Parts: sequence; C-alpha cells; structure tokens
Amino acid sequence: MTINWDEAYASRAGRMGASEIRELLKILEQPDVISFAGGIPDPNLFPVEAFQQGFARALGKPAEAKRALQYSVSEGAIELREWIAGYMKRMGVDCTPANILITCGSQQALEFLGRLFIGPNDPVLVTWPTYLGALQAFNAYEPDYARLDPRANTEIPGPGDGTPAQFAYVVPDFANPTGETLTLAERKRVLATAAAANAVVIEDGAYSALRYDGEEQPALIAIDSEAEGGIENSRVIYCGTFSKTLSPGLRVGWIVAAEPLIDKLVLVKQASDLHSATLNQMALTYVAETMFDAQVALVRQAYRTRRDAMLASLERHMPAGFKWSKPEGGMFVWMEGPKGLDARKLLDRAVMHDRVAFVPGQAFFADGSGAETMRLSFSLAEPAVIEEGVQRLARAIAAM
Ligand SMILES: Cc1ncc(COP(=O)(O)O)c(C=O)c1O
Repeated sequence: MTINWDEAYASRAGRMGASEIRELLKILEQPDVISFAGGIPDPNLFPVEAFQQGFARALGKPAEAKRALQYSVSEGAIELREWIAGYMKRMGVDCTPANILITCGSQQALEFLGRLFIGPNDPVLVTWPTYLGALQAFNAYEPDYARLDPRANTEIPGPGDGTPAQFAYVVPDFANPTGETLTLAERKRVLATAAAANAVVIEDGAYSALRYDGEEQPALIAIDSEAEGGIENSRVIYCGTFSKTLSPGLRVGWIVAAEPLIDKLVLVKQASDLHSATLNQMALTYVAETMFDAQVALVRQAYRTRRDAMLASLERHMPAGFKWSKPEGGMFVWMEGPKGLDARKLLDRAVMHDRVAFVPGQAFFADGSGAETMRLSFSLAEPAVIEEGVQRLARAIAAM
C-alpha cells in the first residue's frame, strides 16, 4: 500500500498552505512582466564591497577563520549583540546583549514566538490585514485569530473570558502589506489593549529603518520600557532584521526582550538549529560597524524616489473608486478597489494581457476577507518602469 501523506501528517499541518506570494513570484520571472509583487530589497543596492571585506576579514586570519567556521553560542555572536544593543539604544531602548537573541531572519523569530506562546485554539490578536509570513509562522500552532484594531477600542478576548489572548502582533512602521504607520496614540492603544488582556506584544520592526519622511515614532518597546521602568518589566518583544537594510540572504535578525524570555528562547534556538551561521554574523558585524548608517541613507534615498514615483503614477492613472495608502516609508502601497472587485481575477488579466503584477490582498487577512485589495511594491523598479507598470495596471482595470 502506498502512503497517503495528507493522512500521515499531524493535524496542525492542515493549516500549512503554500504561500501565494512565493508561488506568484515563480510566474513573474518572465522578463517582460513589470512586477509590483515581490516585496524584496533591490539587489543593486546591496553593499557588496563591504560584505567582500567583511567575509575576507572573518576568514583572513587563521584564528578568526577557525572561529568563523566553528559552532558558536546559541545567543549569537557577542560583538553583533553589542552592536544591536547600541542600535536599540539609539531607538530609546536601554538593553544589553543579555536581552538579545540572534535569529535566522525575523521570520525565525516569529516562528519561535508562535512555538513558545500558542497552543491549539489560543486567541492571538492580529491586524486585518497583517504580514502573511507571520500568519504562516503562527498557523502551525493552531491559534484562533481575533482582530486587533489600533484605531479603535476593540472588544478582545481577555482574562475575564477565561481565554486570555496570548499576544498581539503588530508591524507599527510602514507595515507589510499596508505601508501604514501607527501614530503615538495608536501605539499606546495597542499597549493598553494588550495590558488589559494581560497579553504579550510582538513588535515587528522589519521596515523601521526605512523612513522617507514624516515624524519618527517611538518603538512600542521603547514606550513600554519607559512606562514600566525598564526592559525587564516590558511586555513587548521586539523583532528586528538586517534584511531590509543590509542583506536578506545572510538570514540575520534579532529578538530584544526581557532576559527571562531570551533565556527561554535560547533553548528554542538550540532545539531548532543550535545557532545562526557564525561566519554570517561575523561578516555582518563588520558591515554594520563600518557602514550601517551610510547604507540606510542610500536605500532610503532610492526607495523614497520610487515611492514618490508610484504615488504620482497612481494619481495620474487610477480610475475613480480606487484609493491607496501614502506610506512614509517601507516598500508597499496598499490599494483598495471598489466593492465587488476581485483582485485575483484582476491579477490574472493583468499578468496575461498587460504584463504587470501585484499581490492580491486577501492572503493577508486572517478571516479571508479583502478580496478587493492589493499590495503594490515599489522597491524593485526605477521610476520610468513604475510609470509604465501603473499605466498597464490602469489598462487591466479598465478592461475588467
Ligand atoms: C513585516 C515583516 N516581518 C518579517 C519579515 C521577515 O524578514 P526576515 O526573515 O528576512 O528578517 C518580513 C519579510 O518580508 C516582513 O515583511
């Protein structure tokens, strides 16, 4: 008898579906398609020379090379955690390397936090829409999602109901997929909501460094640490990453939180993959120490120009009934079509006939709503290409 794989899996595997976006990216490799789909950094902006030097240094001297190629501590390289502690201090978060765990990208951080906090049917608060990768990371642990609305005092499951929420997950700066940023009042509301439910807050700062204009807002972990008298008393767990600033391919991110939680997460890290790549951490430390701020300035400049181009092109070409976000940073514009629009059908038409692509927004909603929404990424295309792509999109819309 041949094995039926679907019957062989644990029940939690039922929630593991293929990522719509990753599947989509495969189709979009044809060169004549203008893609606003992939929300990835522009590889032309990678600091290649600095990484060449960083890797050469890590491998150049025998003593360094032996360390770089060896197993290392689960917490992560101490000099990298020291650099991150300094970076977090600049964000108003007073922490030490003992408050930091290095992860394989912030995606691994989200997976670990799901593993640590979610049991079957535990309530988890997320915004509608939210980062698809977070839903994928959490889904394996079978949560029940409830809607977190930073703009309103929403009814949430709390201790009084007997089913306290485990955590609230937010991307406060230039969110994926909406590009939106929470105001100070909204940040405080999220913290108050979580406090009322006695829930932890997971703050995903993936895009925080990519601000193009507007006023810098404090991180939730900074607000809460200050209010509670220090990071050891804060309910916020901050997830950071080098993916959007230096390089996503090295897979280096970090978690900042109270020490007891970091100690627990170190055990999760050990069980999962022992530690993040030693060599990558050493090379990355060199690059961060030598040119982090300059690199951030460079990518900000490039993406700001592209954001401006996309907003101007949308203004010129989108028909009535469409509205879109005006992000102050990040990589995404979020567009809502008129009620009844099916963005998946529009995508089919747009790719097949007009050779332009975007991500239909529905996949970002935990409840499967949002059929009329779409995410447009401006990180990869030069302004002239953006203009052409938006014109094509307008043609596809007109044809529907
Ligand atoms: C909001 C958000 N969080 C986390 C990640 C994961 O990034 P990484 O694992 O590369 O740090 C992404 C990637 O696109 C993202 O958009």
